[in-house]
Amino acid sequence: MTRDFTIFAGTANRRLASAIARELNVTLGSSTVERFPDGEISIQLAEPVRGREIFVVQPTSPPVNDHLIELLAFADACRRASAARITAVVPYFGYARADKRHGRREPITASMIADLMQTVGIDHLITLDLHAPQIEGFFRIPVDSLTAVPTLARALRDRLPDDAVVVSPDAGRVPAATMYAHRLRTSVVVLHKQRASGTETRITHVVGEVRDRACVIVDDMISTGGTMAESIEALLAAGARPEFTLVATHGLFLPGARAKLDHASVRAVVVTDSVEIESDDWPRLEVVSVAPLIAEAIRHTLIDGALEIV
Ligand code: R5P
Repeated sequence: MTRDFTIFAGTANRRLASAIARELNVTLGSSTVERFPDGEISIQLAEPVRGREIFVVQPTSPPVNDHLIELLAFADACRRASAARITAVVPYFGYARADKRHGRREPITASMIADLMQTVGIDHLITLDLHAPQIEGFFRIPVDSLTAVPTLARALRDRLPDDAVVVSPDAGRVPAATMYAHRLRTSVVVLHKQRASGTETRITHVVGEVRDRACVIVDDMISTGGTMAESIEALLAAGARPEFTLVATHGLFLPGARAKLDHASVRAVVVTDSVEIESDDWPRLEVVSVAPLIAEAIRHTLIDGALEIV
């Protein structure tokens, strides 16, 4: 048995929210979001939520802080209007890279955000390819941490050269790269990456054989494009064939990123729609929808009110 439910969309990715609603044969809940000249956000739910299961779809993508406050304000509005349960659907979780302290006197911002979400009354989180899986541990509420790896691997199958290897651009991506390699029936090469700053990285070693082989570089996100661009240079220097497919769950593509990835050897850039992207003017970009995956997680959440990890 499923409870009555409503899906609201914040402004971060209405297209994905609508696609999820279509998968579930419902229309989006009615709401308005306004921005005041001083930067403050005002939200109004235009329909009752009393006793209903509420899903708020809002990746905390750039502008991260605005989108985060919007999500919190949506949840606050739903809680004050007596929603039965509030699920935040956050396909891209901003600040996930701030999951530990690198030195003294630093915050763990991802943990602070988990506290904020719970304080405003979010009862359940659905998210996708968290930068660090241990972020789940910052929450006391249930977290359904989905992965887009099977969806993306399906989109890649049958179009890669037989000799392609999967490349993990750093140690943190090895588990995901291994999942890709397993599904694409190939092996994994690991790069040793050092980060000099938020925008600068350096690859120091290539672990594995890439000579004359095509490469599929997989990452959780493409932000400035620096990691992918550095990885391409390191792999070419190690003798890889100039035939790269770049794959990531979250395509943030900050200004300058596309230029870095418009390398002659890049055959395709494949990402999901976890973050709203305009793809029309970039023929190399392919966007694979995670709406069916998220809709399935919502269905599981609704069945008898049970929360299941899917
Ligand atoms: C870092 O640890 C992440 O997994 C990504 O490799 C990184 O955030 C990508 O960012 P950028 O595109 O700015 O190099």
